[in-house]
Amino acid sequence: MISDKIYEQMKNLVIEVGNIMLEVDYDKLDINEKQGNHNIVTKYDILIQEKLKKELLNLVPNASFIGEEGDNFDLNKEYKFIVDPIDGTMNFSRKLNLSAVSVALLQNNEPIVGICYVPYSHELYEARKGFGAYLNGKKIHVSDKKLKDGIAFCGSSPYYDDLREKSVEILTKFCSIASDYRRLGSAVIEICSVASGKAEVYVELKIMPWDYAAASLILKEAGGIVTTIDGNEINYNEPTSIIASNSIEDYLKYLN
Ligand code: IPD
Repeated sequence: MISDKIYEQMKNLVIEVGNIMLEVDYDKLDINEKQGNHNIVTKYDILIQEKLKKELLNLVPNASFIGEEGDNFDLNKEYKFIVDPIDGTMNFSRKLNLSAVSVALLQNNEPIVGICYVPYSHELYEARKGFGAYLNGKKIHVSDKKLKDGIAFCGSSPYYDDLREKSVEILTKFCSIASDYRRLGSAVIEICSVASGKAEVYVELKIMPWDYAAASLILKEAGGIVTTIDGNEINYNEPTSIIASNSIEDYLKYLN
């Protein structure tokens, strides 16, 4: 467990680095392709990750650090940070204002802290294992709507060409049942939106641990459920499919 003081410092740090996104020079993003033209990185992803790495490891020196932009060491340590400096980099690069910072702290491979910050709307989502989930200090809970009255988020797994067709099939299925569907381009914002009752379910065929580690704890602490699309437990060591929902009905039945 970590102290209240360290937890508060972590939250302040996430807000501080998130606010960097509000002050960027869009003419100097230094966009580079990581794997193909769907998967990009800007100099701000790297800058925010570097700052998070330095400050988080100052706060919890015995932890290891895994970040989207390439840090990955000592995976066997008891404590591990899993960080996405900018979830929704494509949105960020296009000024769509739908991106978030995501920081999870895991103990023995289980998230015990999840902090996600959306700087454009000043929304701080947070959870500690066993203590509930909060949005800007107010307790949040998943909705009690069924899918027929609800909103489904359908991710496109943009970095995996082979999943495009199946992603569209799932989208078609969900949108024929739900009130409506959405695709925000940030898994973190989509999962946190389900956690705070703004939507009912989010599904995506392949995402990385930094896309869901923090938000999945927030969702669970808000009364939701998160599994793979086969109904198995998610782990935090490898890419996975994901279905994150308000737990009101068995959403898996719509995928088969
Ligand atoms: C991406 C976003 C996107 C999801 C991708 C993620 P990134 O994160 O969350 O919504 O579809 O699978 O990788 O790459 O912008 O941090």
